Amino acid sequence: MHPAVAGLAQERADHRFKGLPPDAEGRTLAELAAERRNLFTGGFTTPVLALSAEALEHNLLAMERYSAAHGLAFAPHGKTSMAPQLFERQLAHGAWGITAAVPSHVRIYRAFGIQRIFLANEVVDAAALTWLAAELDADPDFRFVCYVDSVRGVELMEAALRRAGARRPVDVVVELGAGDGARTGVRTEAECATVADAVSAAATLRLVGVAGYEGEVPKADGERVRAWLRRLTALAADFDAAGRFEGVEEIVVSAGGSAWFDAVADVFTELPALSRPVLKLLRSGAYVSHDDGHYQHITPFNRIPEEGDLQPAFRLWAQVVSSPEPGQAFLNAGKRDAAYDLHLPEPQLVRSAHDGSLRPAHGLVITGLSDQHAWVTVAEGAQLEVGDWVALGLSHPCTSFDKWQMIPLAEADGTVTDYIRTFF
Ligand SMILES: Cc1ncc(COP(=O)(O)O)c(C=O)c1O
Repeated sequence: MHPAVAGLAQERADHRFKGLPPDAEGRTLAELAAERRNLFTGGFTTPVLALSAEALEHNLLAMERYSAAHGLAFAPHGKTSMAPQLFERQLAHGAWGITAAVPSHVRIYRAFGIQRIFLANEVVDAAALTWLAAELDADPDFRFVCYVDSVRGVELMEAALRRAGARRPVDVVVELGAGDGARTGVRTEAECATVADAVSAAATLRLVGVAGYEGEVPKADGERVRAWLRRLTALAADFDAAGRFEGVEEIVVSAGGSAWFDAVADVFTELPALSRPVLKLLRSGAYVSHDDGHYQHITPFNRIPEEGDLQPAFRLWAQVVSSPEPGQAFLNAGKRDAAYDLHLPEPQLVRSAHDGSLRPAHGLVITGLSDQHAWVTVAEGAQLEVGDWVALGLSHPCTSFDKWQMIPLAEADGTVTDYIRTFF
């Protein structure tokens, strides 16, 4: 374990971390974890987000197996969790490195010892490039790749890296846009070649491949996504035939979130042999916790169940603080605690305040979230009392993690075995 990751266990449990037991104030997280407290009876306060130890391990293994079976290198997107402890688990499960979205991610990853980073964006921030140049020069084993998507971007990178006195060139891949109206990325193959020409004219940059994000293909379906992925692999082959990768050790071809990794795996196998080895890099991030909404609906494992599955790992436990009218109750968790950008949370279980018994949350529906409250309609005949705990399933891993700086890792019986620190 990297010393900085190990050091996280020496952090103290205190008021900064909502949900942690007040009576644990001042203990280190290592000490608290060793107490193996129970999530329900160990003094935790509501609302508290718990990550399932079993589901997490299951998901890590599922994507390790999937990428290995399809000859894909894996750089899970770290923006999902921003949790160095989870990055270490992902690397221990065979990941090549970790994907970042912005330079501030890279700084965090480097602080926790990540040696291979794929930044799936263009970097035109001179201050960030100055830092990056120093980081690359200081550590010959640090492997870094980022996007370029315009001639202007390349010029800004080159100018900033020159001013910074960069000694090692920055490895870049041309980002092919996922279609007209898509997010970032060069729109046509001809423009990709122009951007690649600009890279070869820049001494501080080195072209190592092509990349993009099929998750942004407009009106995505299997056919459109595969068609775009074929454009990406054809671009890699064309660049290679044009001698654009001379001198590089391996060519990078990267795509893939958590919605279409089956299409990525299929199309990447069609890639013809190139002049040097190819690093086929998948970047799924949301898989790590998976969810009970959006990703449950769209995971490729629904199409290929024989190749694995993912389990929702989050449960947000909130407590009924008010039941002011028949049919209406309020929980003490709101937008500060739960993802709400794709769907509202879904009640799954109720834990009785009387005896701790668990029952399915039949008849309960979340109809809205305030900052610190969830609005619950309670169907006639459904039981819910002030004081009960309600387990909520969430939709969208990225916007669940980011609301919690310290997340208890709990086994199925509620035993908390570790605490996951996030850096948002
Ligand atoms: C460029 C890029 N790559 C990879 C991912 C990871 O996709 P997912 O969140 O579906 O796992 C994202 C997510 O937004 C992304 O923007």
